[in-house]
Amino acid sequence: MAISIRDNLNPIVQESQAMMVRNEFGQPSFTLTIDGKTVQAYENESLLSVAVDNGITDIPNMCDDEKLEPTATCRMCLVHIEGVKQPLPACTTPALPGMVVTTNSDELFHIRRTNLEMLLSDHNAYCQPPCQIDCPTHIDIPGYLELIAKGSMKEAARLVKEVLPFPYILGLTCPAPCQKACRRALVEEEIAICRMHGHAAETCLLDPPHPFPKDPPTGKRIAIVGSGPAGLTCAYYLALKGHYCKVFEMNPQPGGMLRYGIPEYRLPKDLMDRELQHVWDLGVDLQLNVKMGEDFTVDDLFAQGFDVVYIGIGAWTSNPLCVPGEDAECVVNAIQFLEEKVECKPLLVCMSSRRGSSLRMER
Ligand code: SF4
Ligand code: FES
Repeated sequence: MAISIRDNLNPIVQESQAMMVRNEFGQPSFTLTIDGKTVQAYENESLLSVAVDNGITDIPNMCDDEKLEPTATCRMCLVHIEGVKQPLPACTTPALPGMVVTTNSDELFHIRRTNLEMLLSDHNAYCQPPCQIDCPTHIDIPGYLELIAKGSMKEAARLVKEVLPFPYILGLTCPAPCQKACRRALVEEEIAICRMHGHAAETCLLDPPHPFPKDPPTGKRIAIVGSGPAGLTCAYYLALKGHYCKVFEMNPQPGGMLRYGIPEYRLPKDLMDRELQHVWDLGVDLQLNVKMGEDFTVDDLFAQGFDVVYIGIGAWTSNPLCVPGEDAECVVNAIQFLEEKVECKPLLVCMSSRRGSSLRMER
């Protein structure tokens, strides 16, 4: 149903003609009432503009913009006008002398809410970039890409490290779900989001930025079991919070699956160690070759005065393939194969039920 604003306002216009006066500049000015307050307005001003000029700023509006022609499409700015049956949009309704306007009521609240729900019902835009939503850590991807584009590599690495302490390592190992959601692929090809934070971090591996200033010591002691990505991430952020952290690792070197599950061609271990060094630089201690359940228990750690124990021991068990011969002598699973390869042990046959592990072994 089309609504003619002018028709609705005819009675008011006629009644008010006699009340119109001109101000000292010759511009017609007049008064009207909004929410019980007498306010001054000029001819052709919208009710919304008069309200805002007079300090009444709580009329919701989503499509009013002084640079554009008024369209009254969101219908959030509806107001009551005395003598007019239905509410009218304040952004396109001209102020007239003697008008009595109400900007808030239960009825207006419900109409505005319904209008907003209708607007949102077919809303297909993104409030957050899809890449950022799909990244498990929800890094500010547009933020660091912009910094990289400006050449601020260290600042980009700092931004990533706010939520992810090892952007260089992730730049080489993450399966990059963010890139599958990249909308640039609709135009040409996806942005190399993964490699970009890896590159930014690589430029400052020896002089890393801190995401936050380190807090003063809290006196709290945290024991972390396992020096894989989970344990070291925990150590990194807790050390920045001022807690003393000590990492206990069963292997002769730290890194967990990063070191023993990812081959050298994929993640050069000397560069990986440079990024892991950022954890040790914060004062985190490390004890190698000790295995929970054999060399110590959780109770032992509490007995040593640790306030908290974090267990990040990883997932080192391969899924069985359930095929004949998989338990034969010299047949090893993928994880064992990758681990023993790091230790340079000779191997004959390997089996894998994991696609990623198989590919890494084929290389
Ligand atoms: S590549 Fe980086 S940004 Fe993308 S999903 Fe992995 S960690 Fe997140
Ligand atoms: S601001 Fe959208 S209809 Fe008035």
